Amino acid sequence: MKTDIELKNLWFKFFKQHGFEQIQSASIIPENDPTVLFTTAGMHPLVPFLLGEKHPAGNKLCNFQRCIRTGDIDDVGDDCHLTFFEMLGNWYLGDCPKEEMIKLSFEFLTSKEYLNIPKEKIATTVFGGNETAPKDEVAFNAWKKCGIENVFYLSDNWWGLAGGVGPCGPDTEMFYDTGKPKCCDSCSPACDCGKYLELWNDVFMQYRIDKVGEKAKELARPNVDTGMGLERTVCVLNGVKSVYDSGVFKDVIDFIKSKAKVDYEFDSKSKRSYRIITDHIRSSVFVLGDILGVVPSNVGQGYILRRFIRRAVNCARNIGFDTNYFSDIVDIFVNKHGNDYPDIAQKRSFIKDELNKEVEKFSKALEEGHKEFEKVINGIERHKAFVQNKGEIVEDIIPGKACFRLYDTFGFPFELTKELAAERGYGVDENGFKIAFAEHQEKSRTASAGVFKGGLADSSYESAKLHTATHLLMAGLRKLFGPQVMQKGSNITPERLRLDFNLDHKMTDDEIKNVEDFVNDAISKAIPVSFSEMSIENAKKSGAVGVFENKYGAVVKVYTIEGVSKEICGGPHAKNTADLHHFKIIKEESSSSGIRRIKAILD
Ligand code: ALA
Repeated sequence: MKTDIELKNLWFKFFKQHGFEQIQSASIIPENDPTVLFTTAGMHPLVPFLLGEKHPAGNKLCNFQRCIRTGDIDDVGDDCHLTFFEMLGNWYLGDCPKEEMIKLSFEFLTSKEYLNIPKEKIATTVFGGNETAPKDEVAFNAWKKCGIENVFYLSDNWWGLAGGVGPCGPDTEMFYDTGKPKCCDSCSPACDCGKYLELWNDVFMQYRIDKVGEKAKELARPNVDTGMGLERTVCVLNGVKSVYDSGVFKDVIDFIKSKAKVDYEFDSKSKRSYRIITDHIRSSVFVLGDILGVVPSNVGQGYILRRFIRRAVNCARNIGFDTNYFSDIVDIFVNKHGNDYPDIAQKRSFIKDELNKEVEKFSKALEEGHKEFEKVINGIERHKAFVQNKGEIVEDIIPGKACFRLYDTFGFPFELTKELAAERGYGVDENGFKIAFAEHQEKSRTASAGVFKGGLADSSYESAKLHTATHLLMAGLRKLFGPQVMQKGSNITPERLRLDFNLDHKMTDDEIKNVEDFVNDAISKAIPVSFSEMSIENAKKSGAVGVFENKYGAVVKVYTIEGVSKEICGGPHAKNTADLHHFKIIKEESSSSGIRRIKAILD
């Protein structure tokens, strides 16, 4: 029996022995990267370094990284797919010989001191060649030299970020042969018959793609990027069939078993429901518990989070599991992961509160929505009966507009409508839904992706002024309470600003007055607001306020209100503080544990 903790320890022991330095893992929400919603691989926060920047910790790195991938969300519930997972990674920033990296991977997988997997149980794939790069004979021969029999050439062994841009290159993937018989003569790790389980991927990052659709260019300095799936490897090391059969997953499944009305093994749907609850609540814990703070909403990460929670609720209904127990599942995960990821331990009660709020909201909507869904089906059935008399054929498809109404009015995620429809033998008009959704986005400015990075709901000058007031307010709070006070969230409508920040107490009337005076003083001085673009390193040197982690190499805008405030920010702002006239705090309240919220206006 090997636990995930033991596997992590072995990983660091091995790679440190080989001169690799352990680095911090990053947030689950990528900062300043609009191409993806979540960190999907350990290399994601390291993109600038893979493109040539120098890393402060040297050129041989290793870590563990929290990741979310939703591309395979429909497969969650089988034996090995998860939306949240931990990746063990190591990187060689420089032209490392492939043979050497492959030898390291082989040694870690097979040596007695480490994973001790018999080499006969390992199969690998290498790049089969295309117009960008030739087939990877070096990698093929390196595996053969290690004594691996089953090495397959595959033309799609190429890895890059999901957004389609960034460093990329041919890869070699390592699989565990589960011992299942071959599904056909040409059975290989490319099949999804379950014979081969992918554990680890070594990517030879020799190329970069700068724009979607552009041809890959050679990198001046190639790198190696490797990533091992922690949960799957633990599963193999324990000789169990599914990731859900050991460790924290087993604890959660056992807990659900003790409370649910329908047995885990009752049928494939019940088993899948248990597993989806387990996976989706774990993902929700990590999204809600992230330092950058996301709550359920209808856009971006908030929408995915909403979908995780709502799907979990639906699965709980399937197995007669009371959603009040979701909080206990949060505890199991926080107790398990809180050491490695202190954010989630600190935000334990916030996670539970937000989860419960969303569950409640959805449960109400769900009841109404289920009734509406039945009406839609009945409507189609009646229409069918009516036109069939005339010899017309009606397909069992729920129209896009009806799907959108279920989404918009009753909070049904589209995927839920699709799932319920499938259960009743119906399809859904996906395209029609997309059209209705896009029309709705046009109408609703705030729901569209055009929301400003600074949290602005529109781009009017009123909003720009409130944005400048937010910077002044932040400066006033830091002056009064100290530089540990940071912005934790900002939202601006044309009428008011809203700022969340960390502070351990309710502000007194005197403190509120002090901060108001600070801002009004800056307004009365009529200070121009200016910005310049600079590297993150220079921004830091200049004393600008902002979140710097994992942003090395990026160019950022720094807004300056001379003598008062200097912040990394996307803008826009007022031209001069005099334009703000007068600042007034209208509310100071708690937002969540340790976080205060101020609402203020300009009058
Ligand atoms: N970045 C590579 C992957 O995620 C290692 O598979």
